[in-house]
Amino acid sequence: MRIYPDAAQAAEGCALQFAEWLVEALDARGRASVAVSGGSTPRLMLAVLARAGLDWSRIQLFQVDERGVPPGHAQSNYKMIRECFLEPAGFPEQNAHRMFGELDAAEAAARYATEIGQVLGAEPFDVVQCGMGADGHTASLFPGDPLALDTRGVVAGLWAADKQQWRITLLPKPILAARHLCALATGADKAPAFGRALRGPADLLATPAQLLRGAEWFVDEPLFSSAV
Ligand code: 6PG
Repeated sequence: MRIYPDAAQAAEGCALQFAEWLVEALDARGRASVAVSGGSTPRLMLAVLARAGLDWSRIQLFQVDERGVPPGHAQSNYKMIRECFLEPAGFPEQNAHRMFGELDAAEAAARYATEIGQVLGAEPFDVVQCGMGADGHTASLFPGDPLALDTRGVVAGLWAADKQQWRITLLPKPILAARHLCALATGADKAPAFGRALRGPADLLATPAQLLRGAEWFVDEPLFSSAV
């Protein structure tokens, strides 16, 4: 657990660790793969990572989840990733693997699982970065959705009733198989979910963020101190 005074420093700490893990993967295997979340918290982290000056030509980037919207839409996670990371980093387009939020969610999920298999083969992701919602969701695995208990699949499409939106999400298996799994979450409003995720009775269905119990967490003081 890494605790920082504020959200900006947590994002920076996460980005620096992220870059170290990528360098380690490049040194060990000559290539690296990452999957990053959407929402708003990763914005700063991705902006810092974009300045890390790594050899992006040897790094493959994937998404943890996507909303059921086209890539130019204000709610598109890919749009956020493009603006905060891909463009400023000069990341090679062919190495950025987008979830097709504009397609039928089940079809987009099937395509994405195929693409992951084609690019990674049997290798796990080197780094997966997840976020957490105030309701205890992570990726697009929401409380009450049995997908959080799925141990076999790679990607799924789902209707997120709370958000009234189709979603595409990585499933627990590829998330938990990552060589490095990190969680970036900030803000006191997430404190109850944070407490349930790390210390509550085991109940993945109620709090899918319990999937992140073994993750390296990057949090800010407002979140950490409100949860204690
Ligand atoms: C999304 C996500 C999601 C996110 C959490 C936290 O598409 O919304 O990828 O799982 O990580 O909802 O979102 P915030 O960072 O916006 O609080």
